[in-house]
Amino acid sequence: MSTPNISIVGTGYVGLSTAVGFASKGYKVITSTHDNEKASKINEGVAPFYEPNLQELLKKALKDDGLKCVLDCKEAVMNTDITFIATGTPSRPDGSANLEYIENSAHEIGEALKEKDAYHLIVVKSTVVPGTTEDVVKSAIEEYSNKQCGVDFGLCMSPEFLRQGAALHDTLNPDRIVIGEYDKRSGDVLESLYRNFYGKKPPPIIRTNLETAELIKHTNNAFLATKISFINSIANICERIPGVDVTTVAEAVGLDRRIGPSFLNAGIGYGGSCFPKDVKALIAYSRTLAYNPDLLIAVEKINETQPYRAVKLCKGFLGDLKGKRIAILGLSFKPNTDDMREARSIPIINQLLKEGATITAYDPVAVAVAKTIFANEIDYASSAIECLKNADCCILVTEWEEFKKLKPEDFTKNMKQPILIDGRRIYNPEDFSQKMKFTAIGLGAKIPAIVLGQNLFDRAN
Ligand code: UGA
Repeated sequence: MSTPNISIVGTGYVGLSTAVGFASKGYKVITSTHDNEKASKINEGVAPFYEPNLQELLKKALKDDGLKCVLDCKEAVMNTDITFIATGTPSRPDGSANLEYIENSAHEIGEALKEKDAYHLIVVKSTVVPGTTEDVVKSAIEEYSNKQCGVDFGLCMSPEFLRQGAALHDTLNPDRIVIGEYDKRSGDVLESLYRNFYGKKPPPIIRTNLETAELIKHTNNAFLATKISFINSIANICERIPGVDVTTVAEAVGLDRRIGPSFLNAGIGYGGSCFPKDVKALIAYSRTLAYNPDLLIAVEKINETQPYRAVKLCKGFLGDLKGKRIAILGLSFKPNTDDMREARSIPIINQLLKEGATITAYDPVAVAVAKTIFANEIDYASSAIECLKNADCCILVTEWEEFKKLKPEDFTKNMKQPILIDGRRIYNPEDFSQKMKFTAIGLGAKIPAIVLGQNLFDRAN
């Protein structure tokens, strides 16, 4: 195969970042979506969501005639050689993944392949539990194309490890590439594409079977989530020991090369469209294998209770929250995105409202999204300073760069009572404690007993 043309089904941050990544290196790319509005935006050069550098690279790809978005998956498949499936796998109520979008994509790809003579490679990029690529994707493509996998078309599962907010950087600089292959020919075609894409210094490439590749992605996310819940668990111990700070503990422990420093930032827990959903899916999948994954269940439980620590710390200072005004700094699940899926701001705000507090919230980009969740239940500020005005307590929820620049005086001058709870450990406790009432997740200080929780089985103990 000379330079293959690429199609990508799904235009979320994985699909579109991958598409723009390929286009940036000269490949011809066709993306497909059923969302008319999204397709028009992409074709006009407007990124449908915020992702650093995406807008610029999308515009360039369109200008170079390297990318277009179509509404018909068939058109995308017929005019390309390799198709990536990057559609979403949201959670069902029982925690398992809803495979509806993947099934639809496979069905449409199958119908297209029915009319195509040349060999075509399909690559699943979406996060799925072991067995899905073979049982769902291969079966549907074979059924609707009347063709045979391994003969008429190839099939791989190649998970992505992109982070939102760094998706393009991660596409161009991955730690490794995983290729799960149905047969050798499929793997060879995909490896050759990646080697061509990454040039002289390709990342390490692991070739394996479909199920192992599927489990690698889940293991990766489950391990990162475990690191976070682990350090949050240690943070909750630190809070009970005056003078001990989890950030120092994490720094020292992270210097052990066997552990490493990443994902040891204690706080109010992990959110987003991946970790919460993927940990749940791995738990549900393990149960289908008659295995109860106690460790993962604990990881999830710790994450669910962790946001309430911030509320508890707030109550430690204020007591009854009825009628108190709380300033919330940050709404998105992490900085550099307006995504609020499973954002920790949601349980925190809901709990504060339940306890009778009034809320003013500010986020540099997520206010529009927050309005679709909280409507007029809360007030929205147009700057951090406005958010702090007349507040009785402030909870720092998302570690945006602009919040890191705030000084103790910004809080003391504007708040009714200067009290700050640092939910993401961005402020220096010494500087802030001298000038105002300050506490933080994982900071052991002389704090009222109520903060520590009287009952070990308390929701946020
Ligand atoms: C995550 C993984 O990091 C990616 O490798 C993976 O490809 C992606 O899921 C996916 O499956 O698609 P993402 O959800 O974009 O990426 O964001 P992360 O940067 O991993 O952060 C997730 C959450 O963990 C955020 O709420 C963040 O605040 C929290 N976090 C992260 C912590 O609380 N502490 C940390 O030390 C690190």
